[in-house]
Amino acid sequence: MKRLSLVILVLSVILGSCQSVVKSKQTTNIPSSWNVDKTIMDSKIDSLLALMTLEEKIGQTVLLTSNRDVTGPSVNKDYEKLIMEGKVGNIFNAYGADFTRKLQKLAVENTRLGIPLLFGYDVIHGHKTIFPISLGESASFDLEAIELASRIAAIEASAEGLHWTFAPMVDISRDPRWGRISEGSGEDVFYSCEVAKARVKGFQGNDLKATNTILACAKHYAAYGAAQAGRDYHTVDMSDRELRTTYLPPFKATVDAGVATFMTSFNELNGVPATGNDYLLKDILREEWGFRGFVVTDYQSINEMVPHGVVDNDKDAVEMAMNAGVDMDLQGEVYSKHLKELIDEGKVSEEKLNTAVRRVLELKFALGLFEDPYRYSNKERQKEYVMSAEHLEAARDVARKSMVLLKNDKQALPLAKNIKVALIGPLGNTERDMIGSWSGAGKHKDDPVTVLEGFIEKIGKENVTYVQGTKLSRYMKRSDKQSRKGFSEAIAAAKKADVIVAAMGELQNMSGEASSRTDLDLPGNQQELLKELKKLGKPIILVLLNGRPLTLEWENNNMDAILEAWFPGTMGGHAIADIVFGDANPSGKLPITFPRSLGQVPIYYNMKNTGRPIDPSRKINTYKSMYLDNPNTPLYPFGYGLSYTSFEYENLMLSTDTITNTQNIKVAIDVKNTGDFDGEEVVQLYIQDKIGSVTRPVRELKGFQKVLIKKGETKTVTFDVSVEDLRFYDIDMNFVAEKGAFNMFVGGDSNATITKEFNY
Ligand code: BGC
Repeated sequence: MKRLSLVILVLSVILGSCQSVVKSKQTTNIPSSWNVDKTIMDSKIDSLLALMTLEEKIGQTVLLTSNRDVTGPSVNKDYEKLIMEGKVGNIFNAYGADFTRKLQKLAVENTRLGIPLLFGYDVIHGHKTIFPISLGESASFDLEAIELASRIAAIEASAEGLHWTFAPMVDISRDPRWGRISEGSGEDVFYSCEVAKARVKGFQGNDLKATNTILACAKHYAAYGAAQAGRDYHTVDMSDRELRTTYLPPFKATVDAGVATFMTSFNELNGVPATGNDYLLKDILREEWGFRGFVVTDYQSINEMVPHGVVDNDKDAVEMAMNAGVDMDLQGEVYSKHLKELIDEGKVSEEKLNTAVRRVLELKFALGLFEDPYRYSNKERQKEYVMSAEHLEAARDVARKSMVLLKNDKQALPLAKNIKVALIGPLGNTERDMIGSWSGAGKHKDDPVTVLEGFIEKIGKENVTYVQGTKLSRYMKRSDKQSRKGFSEAIAAAKKADVIVAAMGELQNMSGEASSRTDLDLPGNQQELLKELKKLGKPIILVLLNGRPLTLEWENNNMDAILEAWFPGTMGGHAIADIVFGDANPSGKLPITFPRSLGQVPIYYNMKNTGRPIDPSRKINTYKSMYLDNPNTPLYPFGYGLSYTSFEYENLMLSTDTITNTQNIKVAIDVKNTGDFDGEEVVQLYIQDKIGSVTRPVRELKGFQKVLIKKGETKTVTFDVSVEDLRFYDIDMNFVAEKGAFNMFVGGDSNATITKEFNY
């Protein structure tokens, strides 16, 4: 009898807590890449939750940095002790098979329930083999290459014990003052969705349990790239139409691709910080999109709701964040401090906490950590894969594909290999700058190949003279007096050379987080130096290393060729040399508009027409939507990029002139390589909805294909346009296609002029 009542008691305790657990069950569909047996997963997590104390549950919502690498303002020195006490269930900035194994052991062997740690890190454009910065990689318009770069990053990171990357960053931005524009995929919605999906697929693969895949994280949710005046962390205020039309689609695309986690953004949106924003986190992310994984904050962004001014103290911020559905606190150390009290006071329900914990545990389960917590920390795999010859070769290839030839007067490029080159400029021999910001665990010294090293390997030491010429520093202003000390040495070297290659742009830390700028000209006195060099009358090739659109009107008028190389990664110097000396033909296109002057910002190709558009055929346009002192057009439009060869487009053909709900239009266009080199072209298709219930952009990208066309060859490139491509938010905010007439444009950039009309 006694025994029976004990059994009943135990059962009711288990059932009681199971009931609350059961209520916290996730109802949305599990993405296929999780590859889990839901019944087994549920029962594992139910039984764990039933055993966990409140403190242990809270521990699973805590993410702390290790002291190995620090990406924000603070570190808790006691993190190892906290791991052993079960007070922190997740660690970031820890990598390396041995180090992660050591920390994992602390959790598995010391805590009561032995729940494994989850290790996260900013594996953004490579782990140790660094690829071009994300904006650069996006300029490749090569989704396979982009996916491969993320795949390789995941292979290296997972071998070093990492389970989770804080990428992809899918923030659209149209303001190059914002330094983080370098981390995204540019200005366009359609293209950014494609890139976002490719990156999620690259990181996560088809099976989270595979030891070479890691969880991806869509960040920063949401509208972070619309910070006022391009100032990082600044206010964002926009209509729901703009939010849903421009800023949310790439996030939705990651959900559709099965992304495992989301990170909130630092900014407020329409008066409410994103980290406590019910509309974003509950209504849209969970209810509309059915997102299944967990949501982590950005660095201390719960705490930042206090200075934002929506709460008076950290405790109230925690209440706001948890109730909005934020599952994990990144380095804020405020869930650990205040959640218990808030639950005791009934301000946060235990149910809420259970849901958050379940979401975290589900992904630990999907990664296979409950079967073997050490399965990712693998020294052999680390040795075999990290910076393998194959990965380095891939990095070189992606870097080549990402470079954009902006100007090439009289075929100034490619250069012959038997000439004397004066390599001049502050970025000609700097290892650190080659790999850009957020270069993960990439070594800052030795590994990155500089431009000088690339040139030496290509044409021999005796043919290259390098002179720095001028210096850059992160905080320099135009008004600062710049030294011309290095000019004379640069000029002397240039005098002895056949051609000048200027490696100029920004230091890597002049773009990226907290790196907003109010001046987009070449910083410092780089332009002054170019002016001096120009006086010599020798050809000048400008190779740009930078993380954002710059204003280059003078350079465009005065340089013989301009190659946008971004921050090209570990193998950057070799990739630049491959292009400059003609072993590879540039094929990148701009994923973002380059303005003529800062005053044009924001400037992007899919603007609206306005009621007073200018008439380009007239010399004088008065009372029109225009500037007096500059054309409306940018210096280089979205989608633009030259090749060493040339392409001609003709014979745009549509299978029908009417799209229906069941009938697509098959589009075909002939693209001929009319130059002397084999080359790749990014064929782009744009659509304009002529009349809408709300005004529509002048055109929008709806398809692109990168094709290799041999010299003299013609390829017929085809697209399939369906009613899905015509949808937008109508006057009632329904996402529909409206009947009417449309224009289609096909060509090599967003100014494409070959056009046909069709109807829906
Ligand atoms: C950045 C995030 C990053 C996080 C963790 C923050 O400062 O905004 O993008 O993932 O730090 O390092």
